[in-house]
Amino acid sequence: MTRLDQPTVALSDDVRMPLLGFGTWQATGEQGYEAVLAALDAGYRHIDTATMYGNEAEVGRAVRESGLRREDVFVTTKLPPDRVGRERETIEQSLRALGLDQVDLWLIHWPPSAGSESVPVWRELLAARDAGLTRAVGVSNYDTTRLDELTEATGEAPAVNQIKWSPSLYDRQRHREHRDRGIVLEGYSPFKSTDLADPVLTRIAAAHDVSPAQVVLRWHVDHEIVVIPKSVTPDRIRANADIFSFSLTAEEMRDIDALGR
Ligand SMILES: NC(=O)c1ccc[n+]([C@@H]2O[C@H](COP(=O)([O-])OP(=O)(O)OC[C@H]3O[C@@H](n4cnc5c(N)ncnc54)[C@H](OP(=O)(O)O)[C@@H]3O)[C@@H](O)[C@H]2O)c1
Repeated sequence: MTRLDQPTVALSDDVRMPLLGFGTWQATGEQGYEAVLAALDAGYRHIDTATMYGNEAEVGRAVRESGLRREDVFVTTKLPPDRVGRERETIEQSLRALGLDQVDLWLIHWPPSAGSESVPVWRELLAARDAGLTRAVGVSNYDTTRLDELTEATGEAPAVNQIKWSPSLYDRQRHREHRDRGIVLEGYSPFKSTDLADPVLTRIAAAHDVSPAQVVLRWHVDHEIVVIPKSVTPDRIRANADIFSFSLTAEEMRDIDALGR
């Protein structure tokens, strides 16, 4: 399977991001390395890491040893809040740890605690992209007002906002605010805020002969929301990637959306 076999979303004319990615928070050391290798073997072509996760070396080693071409794997990392003012140094450290020349996406992990620092940090991300250290730049955990502040100051909107998202957190208005601004919504922690025994999810899962977890992931993809489930369990890693052989009806999508109201 190559990246082109999976649904992607455009971040710019020449950068496409797979809608399904693999989360790596708390997947560290040898276990993290094995999990990323298993994920790439299972068909994921997008890996989400961060300086804060302390696993960039293992993620990079797995990507390099996977046998896949570098251009077929989308890699995201993130700038932690305590590196404000040391942005360039931080992405250079990330690239060294990953053993890569460039990442595909670099995110501000959290808005800087001093609101006045947000725009200068964003300018540093844009500069890193212009220098070729990352192909695209975005943010994480930003509300819409803060997104607009960056765009108004620089004329460039973040390509992506990575925020907590799941059926129970579904917010049509917030999703629309991202779409209207051309900002891709990337959801994190799809399972942590989901009751996988919810009768709506179990009914829909049974109708398609899949698991409620697979329904949750497919629901994101059908909304064109990027989703990055994490697992260190080989069976789950594979099952979470196996979401393209069924699709949800419009009515099922509405029933799942309704869990967020
Ligand atoms: N930007 C941010 O601030 C931020 C914050 C949080 C997370 N993230 C990113 O988003 C990724 C995903 O979020 P997350 O790790 O918080 O949570 P998650 O992916 O919602 O949940 C991970 C948990 O669910 C379990 N799990 C995985 N597949 C399952 C399945 N099919 N059925 C039942 N349980 C399953 C995992 O267990 P096992 O591992 O034991 O299999 C693990 O305990 C992170 O890894 C990270 O890359 C970003």
